[in-house]
Parts: sequence; C-alpha cells; structure tokens
Amino acid sequence: MVYKLMTMLHCIAFFLSFFAFVYSAPAAQDLPRIKLEEDYSENTIIYKGQNDIHGNYRRAKRSTVIKIPLKNYKNYQYHAKVKFGSNNQEYKIMFDTGSGFTWIPKKHSEENTCAKKYKHFESNTFEDFHTVMTTVYVKGEATMKLGSDSVTIGNMVVNNQTLGLAIKSDCEGNEYEGIIGLSFLSINHSSIIQNMLSQGLIKEPVFAFYLNRNHGSTDSELTIGGYNTDHIKNDQLNPIQVTDPEHWQVPIEMVRFGKQVIAVYQKAIIDSGSSLIVAPFKFLQCFIDIIRKSYNIDLKRQENGLLSFKRNQSLKLPNITFVLGNNLYTLTEKDYTIENDQDIEISISFIDYSSDTWILGDLFLQKYYLVFDYGRRTISFPKTRFIDGDLLKSIIDRHLPSKGNSMNIVRIQENIYLLICLFIIFKLNFILTS
Ligand SMILES: *[C@@H]1O[C@H](CO)[C@@H](O)[C@H](O)[C@H]1NC(C)=O
Ligand SMILES: *[C@@H]1O[C@H](CO)[C@@H](O)[C@H](O)[C@H]1NC(C)=O
Ligand SMILES: *[C@@H]1O[C@H](CO)[C@@H](O)[C@H](O)[C@H]1NC(C)=O
Ligand SMILES: *[C@@H]1O[C@H](CO)[C@@H](O)[C@H](O)[C@H]1NC(C)=O
Repeated sequence: MVYKLMTMLHCIAFFLSFFAFVYSAPAAQDLPRIKLEEDYSENTIIYKGQNDIHGNYRRAKRSTVIKIPLKNYKNYQYHAKVKFGSNNQEYKIMFDTGSGFTWIPKKHSEENTCAKKYKHFESNTFEDFHTVMTTVYVKGEATMKLGSDSVTIGNMVVNNQTLGLAIKSDCEGNEYEGIIGLSFLSINHSSIIQNMLSQGLIKEPVFAFYLNRNHGSTDSELTIGGYNTDHIKNDQLNPIQVTDPEHWQVPIEMVRFGKQVIAVYQKAIIDSGSSLIVAPFKFLQCFIDIIRKSYNIDLKRQENGLLSFKRNQSLKLPNITFVLGNNLYTLTEKDYTIENDQDIEISISFIDYSSDTWILGDLFLQKYYLVFDYGRRTISFPKTRFIDGDLLKSIIDRHLPSKGNSMNIVRIQENIYLLICLFIIFKLNFILTS
C-alpha cells in the first residue's frame, strides 16, 4: 500500500512536471520588433564608437530594413544577386554566418574555376590594398587579393567595403560565385553589417534568415537591419546569448534522438554556409548506433560521405530534438533526410574527429527562423515548447553520472516510469468505472 501510494505520488509529480514541460512559458522578452519597410526618420543617437558593433551603437539618421530574396539551389545553397563596384558588376552571393570575409572571383586568374570574374579596373571606387590573403573554410579555401569597393544589396549601397578578389577559389558544385561573410566577428576589417551601421544605412545590426525547401524558388529571404515579423508566430522570440568571440555560437543543453539522450551541455555554431547538421564524431556514432540497433536499419555510406538506407515505408526514424534556451527544437525524419529514388540519405555529418562543436546549417534554418543580433550578442530562436529548468536538469543529471557525455539509455527508465503511471491510471479508471 505504502509502495503504491509512493508510486502514485511519483506518478502525479511526473505528470505535473510533464505539464510544466509542455505548457509553461517564460516571461516575454523585449527585443524590439522591426517591421519591414519601416522608415526611421529621426535620430535617437546612442553613440559609443563608430564600429563598436557589439556594444551600444549609433542610431542611423534614416534607415530601412532591407529584404533580400534568396534563390534556393537544390535545398543546400541559397544565394542573392549583389552588385559590386561603381559599374554594378553582379554576382550570385552566398551569405555566410560561418565566415567573416567578403570575396568575389578576380578577373585574369587562371587558377580560378569560377566563370565570371571581377573587373576591378572598371570600377572607379576600387581601392587596391596590395596584399594577398588566404581564408580557410571547412571545405576548401580561397586565396585573394585585398581591396575595397562599393557593394550594392537591394537598394542599399555600402561604400568602402573591404573585400577579396579570389585568385584561387573552388566553384565546383557551387551555384554561388562569391561570399559575404556575416560571422559574429570579422577580423581586421569592418564587416558589411558594421559598414551599413556606421554609414547610417541600417538602424540595428540585426539580420535574419528565412529559408524554404523548394528548389528553384526565390521566396527565401535575408533581412538586414531587422527581421520580418511575418515569420515569427505571435512575435515570440527566445533570445540566446552568443558564447564565442568570433562565431555565432550558442550553448545546447541537450540533444535527443527519439527518446534517447545523446548529448548534454554542448555548443553549436549556426552556419548558413553549411547545408547540413554537423555533429562531433562520437555523437554521430550515437545516431548511427541507434539507427542500426534500435531500428535495425542497414546503413551505407554514399559517395558524398553521407549515410543512407533503403526506403521502407513502414519504417520511420525518430525525431532529433535540440534543447536550446529551455525550448525544444525538433527535426523530424522529413527535415533531416533527403529522399532519392530508392534511398533515404541522412543529412548529418562530421568534419574531423577532434571537433567538439555542432554545426546547425541550412537544414536547421529551413525549419526555424533565426534572428542574429550583433548589438545584444544574441541569436533569437522562435519560442517553441518550453522545458522547465528543473525538469531539464533532472533529465540531464540522470544522463550524466553513468556514462559521462556519451549515449545513455534514459529511455528505459522513462518508459518504466510511464508504464507504472499508465498502469495506475488504468487501475484508477477501473476502480472509478466499476
Ligand atoms: C575606407 O576604410 C578604411 C578602413 O577600413 C579607411 O582607412 C579609409 O579611410 C576609408 N575610405 C573612405 C573613402 O572612407
Ligand atoms: C590581423 O592583423 C594582424 C596585424 O596586422 C595580423 O598579425 C594577423 O595575422 C591578421 N589576422 C588575420 C586573420 O588576417
Ligand atoms: C520494413 O520495416 C519493417 C518494420 O521494421 C520490417 O518488418 C520489414 O521487414 C522492412 N522491409 C524491408 C523490405 O526491409
Ligand atoms: C516528431 O515531431 C513532430 C513535430 O514536432 C511530432 O508531431 C511527432 O509526434 C514527433 N514524433 C515522435 C515520435 O515523437
């Protein structure tokens, strides 16, 4: 009897916490919303230093929020048309939150495989820095001659933007021809957002991505200077502090695959220049183990390095859930896989064995509209299902002691709990109805 009463109390506690898990909402955050096309006519100047993008910043005299349509290329690249120089040479540009530099291909470079090259000598506004620099990306690198020129995005002309003319860059498999870096910190030069701010073109150093999943479509968008309230339900934002001086990096409290906790207390870089989800190797291994063992699926490695399996209608992979800022961000099988003729490809990858950082790429941005804010040093996610801090902590604590940071079968404990609860509910019902 005592045992049953205890179990019942546990059960009630479980349901109460479950309730808290699903329904409680945190206090409203006060990130000012910015409507598109709004015109800020007057100048409330909070000025601390022209390029102090991360502190208080100067309010522009007159500024707008610009909306840049992005073209979706095969769901793994998005680019916009951007003009460079006084004679408006146009390029397809990828906006990359994962790197800090802006570059386009240079004219007269044999090594450069990109088709259309920049004729800097035809632009009156080009300034040559007479230096060469190499930037290394996750995949490949770009060697470029440095200079500055004007950059026109939509109707906004940004003057004196430091940029590279790539002597050597790899365009194979890429639809875009150049990159505009939007990383959290741009080393040794003013980023395009900083220049927009200091030139009074935008009011706030904020930008946001909306990426859809229709290849060939152009209704994906990047807004600069604010965000588009149409893409956030009830304007409910969940701002999370950036935890790295250089990257748009945020803490992940927990990662679950189905009911299993795969990782706790991780960090993730939000990278619009990556297509996929990148997991640290040991956690990728967890995904693979679970798929193989729990779902009895035979995985094979594709040429591109991604894992795939034969389609089987009656089989469904579980959701991946990231807990960030006490909210649940879920990717369903449909979100993280690509279906080919016969195979289903899993869009989770890894970079190198030593990396301990997750990368949430376009695949994540396709599902969630994110607002990047240099001034407040935050990335705002939409509010989703809130998970109470105590409950989260208890789940994490149960996960931590036994196997450290690797996979742990929290599922079994939880299922037993649930079974006991269901049993009691069944009993109660039985007693009440008989
Ligand atoms: C362009 O920016 C550089 C620093 O990035 C500065 O030294 C130079 O004076 C600027 N030129 C103009 C024309 O504003
Ligand atoms: C930045 O400039 C400093 C000093 O000029 C130089 O030592 C450093 O290598 C530069 N960093 C990058 C990433 O270019
Ligand atoms: C498809 O999945 C179901 C459920 O796991 C399994 O019973 C069946 O054998 C699978 N079919 C094929 C062709 O693999
Ligand atoms: C996966 O997530 C979707 C959307 O959030 C939800 O509707 C579905 O029930 C989830 N599936 C499982 C097995 O939890």
